[in-house]
Amino acid sequence: MTSAPHPPFSLPTQDELKALVGRAALQYVEPDSIVGVGTGSTVNKFIDALAGVKERIRGAVSSSEASTARLRALGITVFDANDVDALAVYIDGADEIDPRGYMIKGGGAALTREKIVASMAARFVCIADASKQVEVLGRFPLPVEVIPMAARQITRRFAALGGQARLRLQGGQPLVTDNGQHLLDVHGLHIDAPLAFESEVNQWPGVVTVGVFAHQKATLCLLGTAQGVQTLRFD
Ligand code: 5RP
Repeated sequence: MTSAPHPPFSLPTQDELKALVGRAALQYVEPDSIVGVGTGSTVNKFIDALAGVKERIRGAVSSSEASTARLRALGITVFDANDVDALAVYIDGADEIDPRGYMIKGGGAALTREKIVASMAARFVCIADASKQVEVLGRFPLPVEVIPMAARQITRRFAALGGQARLRLQGGQPLVTDNGQHLLDVHGLHIDAPLAFESEVNQWPGVVTVGVFAHQKATLCLLGTAQGVQTLRFD
């Protein structure tokens, strides 16, 4: 006797994994609260899901002009960060996340406002697909927002650490962030002491924000995998 063939089985796409964790993050949104909202393609899925429960929240504090536009287009009130005392939760993606919940962020150029909004929140819920998991931070080029006149000096300082900093371009011109500054993407780093690294780079003159989120690490991560959403909790 021959058994019937199994139906074709396909793995979820990266986009489907992003949508999965975006929806899963709703469980951390408290009723009648103001939610901290990050930036990026994964967060866009979260914003779309948030629109479905918008009557149950007061609104959001946003980490970028792009997220603000998407939130407003879906009818979600966006508060100025200066008008809000504290947030219960900040929900954002990551470019890399390590086993301790330390992250590299800023692939979407929004790292400075992301760090500000994250600092207002009691909990940072990271939403990411499994491709973002790493053992050691640094494979993804580290974004660093800089005052334009300091870019060359900061490039030299990274070179002394073995990193190659490249000015991020958009349409052939230096990318200008929401804060009117430039971005360096630093290749070739191996960041095995993220807390010390973040503290060190942060105090270089001209650095606005370094994209290592160690002092502002994730409280937990909702990781999208082929088996479903995995919840990683960090101490
Ligand atoms: C934006 C970020 C994003 O969270 C990060 O780049 C991940 O983006 P995506 O969800 O599109 O993969 O830090 O500055």
